[in-house]
Amino acid sequence: MTDVFFAVCPRGIEDVLAVELQALGAQAVKATAGGVEFGGTLATAYAANLHSRVASRILWLVASGGYRNEADLYALAHDIPWENEFTPQQRLRVDVTAVRSPLQSLQFATLKIKDAIVDRAREQTGERPTVDRAQPDVQVLAHLDERNVRLYIDLSGESLFKRGWRADKGEAPIKENLAAALLLLSGWTPDQPLLDPFCGSGTIVIEAACMATGRAAGLNRRFGFEKLKGYDRAAWSQLQSAARAAVNDAASFSLTGRDISTGVVAIANANAVRAGLGAALDSGKLQFEAGDARAGAPTAPAGMIVTNPPYGEQSNPRSASVPAMMGDVATQLKRQFAGWQAWLLSSDRQLPRQMHLRESRKTVIFNGALECRFFRFDMVAGSNRKAAPAELPG
Ligand SMILES: C[S@@+](CC[C@H](N)C(=O)[O-])C[C@H]1O[C@@H](n2cnc3c(N)ncnc32)[C@H](O)[C@@H]1O
Repeated sequence: MTDVFFAVCPRGIEDVLAVELQALGAQAVKATAGGVEFGGTLATAYAANLHSRVASRILWLVASGGYRNEADLYALAHDIPWENEFTPQQRLRVDVTAVRSPLQSLQFATLKIKDAIVDRAREQTGERPTVDRAQPDVQVLAHLDERNVRLYIDLSGESLFKRGWRADKGEAPIKENLAAALLLLSGWTPDQPLLDPFCGSGTIVIEAACMATGRAAGLNRRFGFEKLKGYDRAAWSQLQSAARAAVNDAASFSLTGRDISTGVVAIANANAVRAGLGAALDSGKLQFEAGDARAGAPTAPAGMIVTNPPYGEQSNPRSASVPAMMGDVATQLKRQFAGWQAWLLSSDRQLPRQMHLRESRKTVIFNGALECRFFRFDMVAGSNRKAAPAELPG
């Protein structure tokens, strides 16, 4: 049976997610702001949870309809046979998101939908489900637009950026699904040497290593759908076994993360071990090392840099102010990285100016609430000279 699902993702990477979902066999794939709608079976949705590197969560559409007020929301939610999906013993959480909804209070809307689910359960079973926002077993999500409401059951549970390997964060880590999206947007492929000169806790390089070794994003975690009544354990086991069999630690690649802070380099190493990448570390195909981006040498004659340097106030105390430091980093790139492509994520629109470089591409991406740009700079031989294409006049 075909159902409708919605994959949520950070704004700016919907198209990357749509391509990913299509490759997983999703049908009627439609990117909208903040996510992608798709059709498929429950197994398609399981596969999306397991394999999508970019989605934040996968939602299952259980009902939709028009509404004008909170009473309409209550009626719609009360009509849904939730008892087919979960029991009153399971802890429930309800959330509402909205775009241009005429309702005064989303909190009140949330309350009405929660009441409808709880009232129905009591009528059907005589038992009252417990609401638990901190540790729910089941999450219901309502999305309101001007006239319509869509009610979903969340199939992911914890957000999908939580792969299960991160123990320590370092300074301002980016989320795992955003790191994966940067790699996919950049067009990096595992046969290209990759360097993150501001690697922090290692997120970008670890995501790259998981791609290079064919490790499914959700191989080491649990999912919300495992707690639902209709959970198809056989279909899930089959997907998991195939994903385990696809891991290829013999693949060859060259991935390097550097950071000025030895403390975060240790964190990155520990994170990589927890991600199952110990063999890649031992063989040197994956490495984290201490180093200053203003002085670091390339790891190959040509390759790709994908990184998010410090911006705004975040900077290591041992570094100069961020704009001055980025100027020095650019000098190093121009001198030593001819033949490399550099992709930098920053909330600072002035970054190309600080680096005296002209970007060849720029994509707006949201890192949480922070509007960022993902700049591409092509480092060509002699690009520190004025005439070179990437060079901006001083
Ligand atoms: C925004 S964080 C990167 C976070 C990383 N992407 C992660 O997910 O953990 C910036 C990093 O740049 C490092 N840093 C600051 N100045 C540096 C420099 N001159 N050379 C190398 N690393 C530097 C900081 O220690 C910090 O870990």
